[in-house]
Amino acid sequence: MVEKFLEGKGALITGGASGFGRGFAFAYASRGADLVLVDINEQLLEETSKKITQETGKKVIPIVCDVSKSDQVEAMAKQAFNELDNIYILNNNAGVGDPYGPDLLRLKEKYWDRLFDINLKGQWLVSKSICKRMKKQAFKPIAGKVIHTASIAGMIVDNKIPAYSMCKAGVIAMTKLLAQSLAPNITVNAISPGYHVTGVYNNSEEAMVMTMNDGNVKTPLNRLGTVEDVVKVSVFLASPDSDFITGHNFPVDGGIAEVGVPAYYFKSDV
Ligand SMILES: NC(=O)c1ccc[n+]([C@@H]2O[C@H](COP(=O)([O-])OP(=O)(O)OC[C@H]3O[C@@H](n4cnc5c(N)ncnc54)[C@H](O)[C@@H]3O)[C@@H](O)[C@H]2O)c1
Repeated sequence: MVEKFLEGKGALITGGASGFGRGFAFAYASRGADLVLVDINEQLLEETSKKITQETGKKVIPIVCDVSKSDQVEAMAKQAFNELDNIYILNNNAGVGDPYGPDLLRLKEKYWDRLFDINLKGQWLVSKSICKRMKKQAFKPIAGKVIHTASIAGMIVDNKIPAYSMCKAGVIAMTKLLAQSLAPNITVNAISPGYHVTGVYNNSEEAMVMTMNDGNVKTPLNRLGTVEDVVKVSVFLASPDSDFITGHNFPVDGGIAEVGVPAYYFKSDV
C-alpha cells in the first residue's frame, strides 16, 4: 500500500506517453495525483492515458503538444490549468536522441537544431509557462515542484552524441538557474539517468548494450538500469521528504558518472 501524498494535487508530465514519463505517470497516479500527460505521439498518448485511468481510477488529461513550439506550449499550459485546478508536479521529461556516431565537427545543423529545440528549449518553454502559474498556488511550504530529466551525458560529455550531451549539460545548468528564480516557493531538481531501455533505444536492450560496449561503459553496480530505478527517485523528489532540496542533479546510473570513470578500472560485466 503506497502513501497517497499526492491526493488533491496535479502532475504534468511531458513525454508522458512512453518510457520514464509513463513510469512517472503511473507512480504519481497511484499516489493520488490527477495527471496531465503531454506528448507529440498522439496514439501512444491516448493508449497510455486510458491505461492509467483504468488501472488507477485517476483523471488523466492527454494533451498533444510539441514542447519545442512556444505557441503550443502556452496553449497546453492554459488547458492544463483549466482542466486541473493546480499543477503541483512538473516533470520536464520529453526528449529525443542524436544519431549515434558523428562527433561535434561532423554533426549536421539539422540535428543541432532539433536536439536543442526539443531537449533544452522545450524544457525551458514548459517551465516558463507552467511555473508562472504554479508559483501562485497556495500549497505550503512548497507551492510546486519541478523535476527535469537530464542525463549522465550532460555530466560526462560523449562525442558520439555531442548535441545531446550539450543539451543535457544545459538542462543541469538550467535546473540551478530555475531553482534560484523560483525559490523559496518552488523546488527544482534534475534526475540524470544512465542506460535504461526505453523509446530512445527503440525499446531494444540489444541496441542499448551495443552503445555501452562501443563506449567501453562499465557500471560499478554491475547491472543495467530500469525505468523503475528512475521512477523511485522521481517519487522522492515529488514527495514532502525532499522539501528542503533544490537545485540538485541526481544521477541514477549504477555509479557510472561519479565512480565509473575511467571505465577499465572496473571488473563489472555491464
Ligand atoms: N533511456 C535512457 O537511458 C535515458 C538516459 C538519460 C536520459 N534520458 C532522457 O529521458 C527522457 C525520457 O526519454 P525516455 O528514455 O523515456 O524515451 P522515450 O522515447 O520512451 O520517451 C520520450 C517521450 O518524449 C516524447 N517526445 C519526443 N519529442 C517530443 C516533443 N517535441 N514534444 C513532446 N513530446 C515529445 C516521445 O514521443 C516519447 O513519448 C528524455 O529526456 C531522455 O533524453 C533517457
